Amino acid sequence: MTREHSKKGATELPHPLMRNSNAPQNRTLFLEADDWQRYSEIPSIDELGCDNVTVHRPIGNEQFDDGRLDDERLDEGRPDDHRAAEEHHERWQADRIYCGDALAGLSRLPDQSVDLIFADPPYFGLKKDYGSGKRSNPWKRLDEYIEWNRAWLAEAARLLKPHGAIYVCCDWEYSGRLQELLSEPFKVLNRITWRREKGRGAAKNWKNNMEDIWFAVVDSAQYIFNLEEVKFRKEIIAPYTTADGKPKDWVETDTGERFRMTCPPNIWTDLTVPFWSMPENTPHPTQKPEKLVERCILASSHPGALVLDPFMGSGTTAAVARRLGRRFIGFETNEDYIRLALKRLDRMEQMEQMD
Ligand SMILES: C[S@@+](CC[C@H](N)C(=O)[O-])C[C@H]1O[C@@H](n2cnc3c(N)ncnc32)[C@H](O)[C@@H]1O
Repeated sequence: MTREHSKKGATELPHPLMRNSNAPQNRTLFLEADDWQRYSEIPSIDELGCDNVTVHRPIGNEQFDDGRLDDERLDEGRPDDHRAAEEHHERWQADRIYCGDALAGLSRLPDQSVDLIFADPPYFGLKKDYGSGKRSNPWKRLDEYIEWNRAWLAEAARLLKPHGAIYVCCDWEYSGRLQELLSEPFKVLNRITWRREKGRGAAKNWKNNMEDIWFAVVDSAQYIFNLEEVKFRKEIIAPYTTADGKPKDWVETDTGERFRMTCPPNIWTDLTVPFWSMPENTPHPTQKPEKLVERCILASSHPGALVLDPFMGSGTTAAVARRLGRRFIGFETNEDYIRLALKRLDRMEQMEQMD
């Protein structure tokens, strides 16, 4: 339902990501017919190349079939590995979303090349059709899903620099498992809970009103945390003053508001899902709010950093990274979503030019 769609024209049923003529006139970013043409050259993960390239990995201590240890192989192979990794580096580019499977894409990127990862993987058992009639969720059993997560997290650990951090979103059903998986290659530092105001009601269960975002780092002795960038504004209920009558650790604005900037909590209640009336909204079924991603990027990276999102969806991470002066790279299996993300980035650029 991609290029075929544009050939067939508007008499067909509208594509789920295209504006339906009956749809309310809102600010949602839809794809238009000519977007298929405009974004016909979407880079694929094949461009990252992998033939004859050995991405050198952390060395284990397992025996090879010929009885030699890894270390011996490493000595004879290392110069080539280095050359290969350097060539490899030239082939991939930042500020791109590559079309293809995240695990395959991650495995083609060089070691320690990324500063921060924000990941919002497809959820196990989610009955969403991710756009083009294909369910993106290929796992029949939970153990398959867990193994898949273990595999991409291992690649994520290989790609992050020593000061790097990773945020991974998930729902309550899988949150406990994810903590265990993350603890294998990373040091888990926190579990952030986002209280979403939009949840499904249930007749015989508690309504699900939350999502978790796990925060983990490569090395707890040297990770980045820009506290000042993410402090929360807290209303002052008891306005204590010093002996000479001055505000104690709080400020008062001209309009009489009293507040203090405090350390950010791990429960986030101030974020809404991107509603149709918000400029960031797209028809992607599980789009994250920009503010949520913004908080993670501000806290855990510096301007110029490379932010990786293995499951780009509508391009929220790319859009936020760009707005905050970071670079991005990511993967997405669904070409239509990449179009949506590209359109979103184009629109940002147009707005920047208008400012
Ligand atoms: C939960 S959504 C991410 C939404 C995104 N955070 C946003 O704000 O738009 C997960 C995305 O992963 C994509 N996906 C599913 N399997 C994938 C895979 N193996 N590799 C890369 N992307 C995949 C889906 O098409 C979907 O767009």
